[in-house]
Amino acid sequence: MKVTIVGSGYVGLVTGACLAEQGNNVFCLDLDPKKIEILNSGGVPIYEPGLKEMIERNRAAGRLQFSTDIAASVAHGDIQFIAVGTPPDEDGSADLQYVVAAARNIGRHMTTPKVIVDKSTVPVGTADKVSEAISEELEKRGLSTELCSVVSNPEFLKEGAAVEDFMRPDRIVIGTESTPAGLRAKEQMRRLYAPFNRHHERTYYMDVKSAELTKYAANAMLATRISFMNELANLADLVGADIEAVRQGIGADSRIGFGFLYPGTGYGGSCFPKDVSALSKTAKEHGRELKILDAVEAVNEIQKYILVEKIEKRFGKDLLGMKFALWGLAFKPNTDDMREAPSRVIIQELVKRGATIVAYDPVAMPEAKHCFDLDFQGNSEGLKKVSMVADPMAALDGCDALVIATEWKVFHTPDFDQVMQKLTRPIIFDGRNLYEPTAMKELGIEYHGIGRHN
Ligand code: UDX
Repeated sequence: MKVTIVGSGYVGLVTGACLAEQGNNVFCLDLDPKKIEILNSGGVPIYEPGLKEMIERNRAAGRLQFSTDIAASVAHGDIQFIAVGTPPDEDGSADLQYVVAAARNIGRHMTTPKVIVDKSTVPVGTADKVSEAISEELEKRGLSTELCSVVSNPEFLKEGAAVEDFMRPDRIVIGTESTPAGLRAKEQMRRLYAPFNRHHERTYYMDVKSAELTKYAANAMLATRISFMNELANLADLVGADIEAVRQGIGADSRIGFGFLYPGTGYGGSCFPKDVSALSKTAKEHGRELKILDAVEAVNEIQKYILVEKIEKRFGKDLLGMKFALWGLAFKPNTDDMREAPSRVIIQELVKRGATIVAYDPVAMPEAKHCFDLDFQGNSEGLKKVSMVADPMAALDGCDALVIATEWKVFHTPDFDQVMQKLTRPIIFDGRNLYEPTAMKELGIEYHGIGRHN
């Protein structure tokens, strides 16, 4: 099938590459000429396992192209995915200007029937706005508004596993209108996703608004589990229980399940913080407060400081002259994404208290450099206190303790003899509970996990 993806960012690129991989002819549009130039010269502007190879393969096969040409992009796809950014507004709601602009461009150029798919995470009711924008443009040109139908098809991609998630989805959610054009759109979506449903049907068809809400509900539920576990972990520390035992004890209940029950330094990234806040905002616009969700957000803000709190408890409030190694900068492993990464809060707070930081991350260091420049704007003295090194062990040299903020695989089984030799004091503050407290004790390492009774 002929598919256009409007927006060659994270979601757009993964969607485009994976649909091309299934044999579709995909046209990816982006208005940023630099991004398109990178893509057309064989580069990929984001890091995502497997994506570069998939893009190369499909470009070479002539199934995937990148361009800034709006008219050509609208002409190309019978199905037009809108996968542009929806950054948070100052008040926490999603900024829809790029989604609506993309819709208008489609309306301005289309001459044949099109299915318009909202792939970006957009608040309930956005499909109506997209539909209105396209209809207005069609009417201006005297064309029938029946030419298009808007579908909601939210993505459930995890960064670092996005290609895998797209190719082997738990479920596909498709929301369509009940008009004749909507029914035709549903059939086209069914055909497009048929290869993903080969072994069993994974698609849930529903109305547009339910599909839009499903995306937010899923992320809000997952964020709720994390904040809940973070609060319980903090309680476990106080009462002397081990949250890891509790996690397994409750996860074994099939109604609860094991996933997303890991306490840590708070959730980050581009989705959870933004989506939780946007859903709460949507509720407020409708005169409702989502009290649980507001608490989820508040708990998460506090949790980003948990390691700093533990460090203060151990060393006191004044950390002047102290040096900390920090392993892991990205908000989670297998990505270079630094958006809302807890490491940024930890670094800011430790530097504020006088400490120096030597950080290491397998992938995110170039991205982290930009973020530190932003975070320390106007504080060049602070910025000087943060450095990065190309090797995790080198980060430890002469440090008073190791702080772990992201659970990259390379940190799971380090050479602890070396760790102890390099640190001036064998102390680890582990925000991801990577190690067993008893094993650490046997090695003679002072270990501070999250909710691990130590
Ligand atoms: C998430 C959703 O999982 C995905 O379906 C959606 O499309 C986008 O948002 P992502 O942001 O890539 O994906 O990361 P995810 O792996 O879900 O982790 C989100 C955050 O929660 C990370 O900061 C992670 O460290 C944290 N987390 C996750 C925990 O603290 N504990 C857990 O048990 C799981």
